[in-house]
Order: sequence, then structure tokens, then C-alpha cells
Amino acid sequence: MNPLSGRRIVLGVTGGIAAYKAVEVCRRLVDAGAHVTPVLTEGALQMVGATTFSALASEPARTSLFDDPQTPIPHTVLGQAADLILICPATARVISDIRTGRSADLLMATVLATRAPLMVCPAMHTEMWEQASVQENISVLTDRGVLIVAPESGRLAGGDMGHGRLAEPATVVAAVEAALSSGDLAGRKVLVTAGGTREPIDAVRYLGNRSSGRQGHALAAEASARGADVVLVTTQPGRAPGGVRVVAVETAAEMANACEIEATNSDLVVMAAAVADFRPADSASRKLKKADGAPEVELVATIDILALLGAAKPEGQILVGFAAETDDLVANAAEKLARKNLDLIVANDVSKPGVGFEHTTNEVVVLMADGSRHDVSLSDKREIARAVLDAALGSLSTNLNQEQ
Ligand code: CTP
Repeated sequence: MNPLSGRRIVLGVTGGIAAYKAVEVCRRLVDAGAHVTPVLTEGALQMVGATTFSALASEPARTSLFDDPQTPIPHTVLGQAADLILICPATARVISDIRTGRSADLLMATVLATRAPLMVCPAMHTEMWEQASVQENISVLTDRGVLIVAPESGRLAGGDMGHGRLAEPATVVAAVEAALSSGDLAGRKVLVTAGGTREPIDAVRYLGNRSSGRQGHALAAEASARGADVVLVTTQPGRAPGGVRVVAVETAAEMANACEIEATNSDLVVMAAAVADFRPADSASRKLKKADGAPEVELVATIDILALLGAAKPEGQILVGFAAETDDLVANAAEKLARKNLDLIVANDVSKPGVGFEHTTNEVVVLMADGSRHDVSLSDKREIARAVLDAALGSLSTNLNQEQ
């Protein structure tokens, strides 16, 4: 189940220009199944309308301690029911108020009236963010266990560039998921590959495949939400989820290099990428011209990254492969599992409707090295990711017990 499903989140919005991004955060949290109650400060109302949040959230936005005669003490109702309080964006003012416990408005009263975890996403100009007072407040909050979603560098309000920009909505949501998840992959390093490789023919053309990278990205997002330290080697960096370290690659050779470096100290490696089996032997550095006639493209085999990783698998590491098949699904996948020295293979019949490439859904059979199998019916790719990681975690725990 999604860690956000049915969880109650108070989304505190304060008066930074980045308040408009909190609208997207709100929508994503609701989409992931959370019950979101927006609480806007006076400053936030200068930046965005309460109606926008009321329309997107699970209940109307609240803006005052005193505007609801039915609920005379809204802060305790909100604070006691919350599973998490998220302040996004958090201004220097609210960060200071959290430190001192100053209850200036409904949001601060709610922060004080809860035992739920508090997550703060600072957003401000570089000069403000770097002030000793702000930095000291942040460090006190960190020591108290407040979860800080670090600001990023980039474009700031007024066209300035610098550090202090609100983390991307995907990163904020990933942090919330991680905070509310079981954390059963905490302390584990997970390497995931995703997307189809592109093997150049000339300066503008390539041989590719239809992989969207969605299943690999869902695996990376799920592993990160469960507390893992995730590195995602992907040919689709623009679509990568938040909260993971991304290594962008294009070709099978680049992916092989990145995997060789990242796999050595990984507890779990999931090769979800659709790696080309063949590449053009030569690629022209310039664009080939039509007038020169149809080119002869000689193909040579690429490195089988998964087989390489399987041959050099460190003790205790769990290696997961994928098998996209159109015939004899289980037999072909079982043969790959053994040949590539895998612990687990995720097989899908890509000839079925809604399965595999370019779909948001998938249907898989997970085969384990011990001969057991789990069938996962047609579901969202995140749901598939959950099932695959559950199965992998079972093998990880078994290995750990054997080591002890
Ligand atoms: N894979 C890889 N490197 C390659 C090709 C595939 O690491 N050059 C990985 C994929 O990421 C996937 C699995 O191997 O996890 C899929 O294997 P596949 O290409 O389907 O198997 P093959 O051994 O090439 O078998 P076949 O082409 O006969 O189906």
C-alpha cells in the first residue's frame, strides 16, 4: 500500500513566492491517497488564493484560528489528528517561530498542538537563507528532529539566481513518503536502472526502443520512500522522481560504466532498463546526408550489463533482472534467471494489453532463485514496484540471516 494512503497531512503554507508550488504539492499528496488539510497564513494569502487549495485538497483551506464557529479550537483538532505537518514553503519567519514556540497564528498553534512529525521546506532568497540567525534556527530545528527538506539552487523570485529555492514538488512529496513509510529499506543502498538506451548511428539519429523508464522510476521512488539510499541510472533523467541521485546516460556502454561504479557497494541492484542488445559498429560524428544514399549499418553486440553484474556479484547483494517476453514467459525468464546468476527476475508478457512499454500499468510474474513465484495482476507500476521490492527484501533478509 502507498505510505500516504489515508494518512492525514496538515499542509502549512506561508508567505513566500514559492507558495504557488505548494498547490502542486497539495495535488500530488491527494493523488497519492493522503487526506490533506491546507492551513494558510496571512502571508500565504498574499501569494495564493485559499480557494485554489480548497478545490484541490481533501477539505477546505483554513486561514484563521477564529473563522469556524463549529470548531472553536481548530489547532488541537488538526494537530491531534495529523500524521505529519508539512510546512511548504517555510519562510524565515515561521522557522524562527518554530524555534521559539511563538504561537502567532493557526499554523503555529497547530505546530504546537501536535505530536506528529514536522517537516519544513525552507524557501527564501540566498541572503536570507545564509543569515547566521536563519542557519542557527535550522540547526536547532534539525537537532530537535524536525525534518528539513533542503532548499535547492536555481532561479529565485525577481529573476535572481542562487541558493534558497524551494525543493521541487516531487522531492517534497518523496520526503513525505519517506517520513511516513515503513522504512524497511533504511540503511540500504539500491541501484536502479531505467529507460531504453540509445545507440547512435550519426550525430542526430539513434537505434532505440519503446521503454519509457516508468517502471524503473517507480522502483526508484518506492525504494527511496522506504528509506533506501537510491541511485537511479536512467536514459530519462527529465522524468526521474525526486529524492534519488540521478546518473543520466544514453548508451549501453555509458550505462555499463555507471553500473560498474555504483553496483559494487549496493545491497540491491534492479536492472529495469531496456538495454539495447546491439549497437551500430560505427557512428558518424556528423549527420549522414540523404543524398549519399541509404547507409549500411553494421551492428555489434553491446555488453550484457546484467550478466556482467551477475558474474561479479558481491556476497549478500541481491540482483534483480527483468524479462520482457512475448512467448513462453516463465520458461524464458527462468532460463535468464539462471544464466545471469540472478536472485529474482521480473517477467512480463509485453504482448498483453496494458503491459510493459509505454503503459502506466504492468502485470508481472516474479520468479525467485529458490524456485518460488509471485504473480502480480495488472496494476499501477508503483504497485508492481512495491511487490518487487517486497520480494527482494525477503531475499535480502535471508542473506543477512545467513551472514550472521
Ligand atoms: N540487460 C542488460 N544488458 C544488455 C541487455 C539486457 O543488462 N545488454 C538486462 C536488462 O536490463 C534486463 C535483462 O537483461 O534486466 C533482460 O534481458 P534480455 O535482453 O531480455 O535478455 P537476453 O539475454 O538478451 O535474452 P533475449 O534477447 O534472448 O530475450
